[in-house]
Amino acid sequence: MEIKEAIFGRRSVRKFTSDPVSEQDIQDILTAGLAAPSAINLQPWFFVVVRDEEARKDLLNILGKGLPKNRAELSARFPKNPEVVEESLGFIGSLGNAPVCILAFLLKKDYEDRLSSMQSVAAAIENMLLMAYGKGLGSCWLTAPLQANLAPEVQARFAPDKGEFLAFIALGHPAQSPAMPRRKDERFVII
Ligand SMILES: Cc1cc2nc3c(=O)[nH]c(=O)nc-3n(C[C@H](O)[C@H](O)[C@H](O)COP(=O)(O)O)c2cc1C
Repeated sequence: MEIKEAIFGRRSVRKFTSDPVSEQDIQDILTAGLAAPSAINLQPWFFVVVRDEEARKDLLNILGKGLPKNRAELSARFPKNPEVVEESLGFIGSLGNAPVCILAFLLKKDYEDRLSSMQSVAAAIENMLLMAYGKGLGSCWLTAPLQANLAPEVQARFAPDKGEFLAFIALGHPAQSPAMPRRKDERFVII
């Protein structure tokens, strides 16, 4: 796939079919993540791939516990758009039936340069989203559930010694083809 097509064609997908994601695809997506640039080549990331049925249930259970707090937070943010609140909550509570969810961790909380470390993990996540898209898979990067302070529970259940939990990446075969949300004007200057 052309890089241009990957960058502009990738969309956040929030609804998935029940088709499984192949082992090879998962490996390739992780490898793409690990190939990202990182500040002083620290590679300050750790990923947990959740696809086992029991583990998925545990993850959805943790997400479910955060829903009341997420509701309060989303309602305050979108007071005039209750449909957005309901849609977001529906997705958080189900991950759109994604058969796989990748959990992204900042491997050590105490990296001296937290700013660079966080950006490095973000670069790895974007690489994974693009690789997933290149394979015809859909994905969505999520941090909204963390508003409900779920990170400690996610860490304790899935990777107690792998640092700070940063983000969920829902992954699977897409059951929707969203249009590109409008991009804002005047977000760069060339001098
Ligand atoms: C750091 C980050 C956190 C995000 N968190 C969420 C989330 O919690 N829930 C969600 O539905 N989408 C989430 N998204 C996806 C964005 O909503 C999406 O990227 C944006 O609307 C643009 O759409 P596109 O990805 O299709 O270009 C997140 C994206 C990023 C980069």
